[in-house]
Amino acid sequence: MSALNDLIARLPKAELHLHIEGSLEPELMMALAQRNGIELPYKTVEEIRAAYEFSNLQDFLDIYYVGMNVLQTEQDFFDLAWAYLERAHADNVRHVEIFFDPQGHTERGIAFATVIDGLTRALEQAEDRCGLTSQLIMCFLRHLSEVAAFETLEQAMGHLERIDGVGLDSSEMGHPPSKFERVFARAGELGLKRVAHAGEEGPPEYIYEALDLLQIDRVDHGNRALEDTELVQRLVDSKMALTVCPLSNLRLCGVERLEDHPLKRMLELGLLATCNSDDPAYFGGYVNDNFRRTAEAVGLTAGEIITLARNSFIGSFLPQDAIARHLAEIDAVIASELA
Ligand code: HPA
Ligand code: ZN
Repeated sequence: MSALNDLIARLPKAELHLHIEGSLEPELMMALAQRNGIELPYKTVEEIRAAYEFSNLQDFLDIYYVGMNVLQTEQDFFDLAWAYLERAHADNVRHVEIFFDPQGHTERGIAFATVIDGLTRALEQAEDRCGLTSQLIMCFLRHLSEVAAFETLEQAMGHLERIDGVGLDSSEMGHPPSKFERVFARAGELGLKRVAHAGEEGPPEYIYEALDLLQIDRVDHGNRALEDTELVQRLVDSKMALTVCPLSNLRLCGVERLEDHPLKRMLELGLLATCNSDDPAYFGGYVNDNFRRTAEAVGLTAGEIITLARNSFIGSFLPQDAIARHLAEIDAVIASELA
């Protein structure tokens, strides 16, 4: 196993499914609560961690929205993003496409500009200091209304040079992609990439809706596609990337044991699956932890681990020349492993 762990550590990779608010570690949450004079329902870091016992997505979201209350100032958003970027750099992440939830902040009276200014200052610093490139994907909270999503898109209009795409997250069941067909159409007209969480808890029909009605460029999670062979074939044929998050699926009880995780099966079926951390502060691991623990649990081969790293760039929104450079770097790592 340690040879595979070494390979995982050395491979350049992209992370394509990461909620920046889900990278808020309990230590930073406590520090920001103190800095901003915010009362948390927890007294210690241990109490925060002890609260992270989820039996489904909604259990997690309830705590996730409380945690983000500590984020108040531009500096808070900078500190949040910088902590993640340093951690990602340590995992040999070369490119990241980051989700943020503006409505989780604007609903609390925090200005859209405060959020995006802090995040982008950290992203620029990561590129300058570490060569780590990034894109930003603004997510709509699907438990809120279509009107609220349109208002958020309106607020983003002054910042479109820093926003690469739109996504759809939060409570999936009962909030099908069709609810956001018009707002996604508008985002498409604005030249934004489109992604959506689909098939994390929701049925295959939600994945069809995301493809057909939202015209998505990538599926976030997509696990339940495996229940529908025609859908799998369509995803394979269209080379649609899936941003799979094994430790998230384990903690939110999408799988009972990591040994049951479908990541290996997805690769065997020819799906363009990638391996990501989702909300690493809440789900117990950053991207290399996701690779390592899943590799061990389901028996990924060195070849499959390399495929996942390659897929992370192929499925990214980087330009083709940048993708080719990253793939060549992966080839160089493989060549040096064999030498
Ligand atoms: N699923 C849906 N919404 C989310 C998630 C997730 O895993 N993380 C943050 N918002
Ligand atoms: Zn997610």
